[in-house]
Amino acid sequence: MKIMLLGAPGAGKGTVAKLLTALDGSIQISTGDILRAQVRAGSDLGKKAQEFMNAGDLVPDEVIMGMMEKRLQEPDCQKGFLLDGFPRTIPQAEQLKVLMEKINIDLDMVVNIDVPRDVILDRLCTRRTCNNGDCQEIYNVKSNPPKTEGICDKCGSPVIQRDDETEEAITHRLETFSEKTAPLIGYYEKEGKFINIPCTSSDDVVNAIKEKLSL
Ligand code: AP5
Repeated sequence: MKIMLLGAPGAGKGTVAKLLTALDGSIQISTGDILRAQVRAGSDLGKKAQEFMNAGDLVPDEVIMGMMEKRLQEPDCQKGFLLDGFPRTIPQAEQLKVLMEKINIDLDMVVNIDVPRDVILDRLCTRRTCNNGDCQEIYNVKSNPPKTEGICDKCGSPVIQRDDETEEAITHRLETFSEKTAPLIGYYEKEGKFINIPCTSSDDVVNAIKEKLSL
């Protein structure tokens, strides 16, 4: 499948993407995960991105587009992919459209995971993430804690709170979402293949997608 997942920070894009990868081997492409791996590696790209990310700002469009133009042409994308956190602005969406035409990719569906703000705030304050860049498993101290506190079930690395999970950065990320990313909903409604899923259960989101794709 080739699906784009839209939704506010904490809506569950990463959680749903991981569940969908298990269905048919499609890969998750999370711009947030790629950027955090670059920050950990201390690369030039990571150094450019870190300040924006920690403040809850978006990384500049040209940095993201350069990174994604390469990523979408890697061979593993041919199995199918779940875009998680990309695009985030109208200019990114417009450039993605041109890129997909150039490399001959067509999306099956654009999905907006629509979760109330109070649920989102609670989830972001209680999320924990595996610190291993190759794993980045997502946990939640309330709804999905690791079996051993602070240790990833999958790879045994420390499970941490992300640097952009301060109250100030979370508030700013939600404002940035309303201002810059929410307009993508109207953009993709006009483009077609858009579905809105107002749902707090990740399993229900996955089932709605399966039904639409007749999987
Ligand atoms: P990114 O990593 O993409 O962060 P985000 O969009 O803010 O999304 P999150 O990862 O916070 O949330 P999510 O929707 O994936 O929710 P999750 O499944 O984890 O981006 C980080 C930063 O990178 C950005 O701020 C920006 O600076 C930069 N960036 C990234 N992409 C960019 C782009 N394209 N352009 C410019 N800059 C970019 O779930 C959240 C929590 O809730 C977890 O604890 C989870 O366990 C829990 N949970 C999830 N679903 C459920 C459920 N159904 N029931 C109970 N708990 C649940």
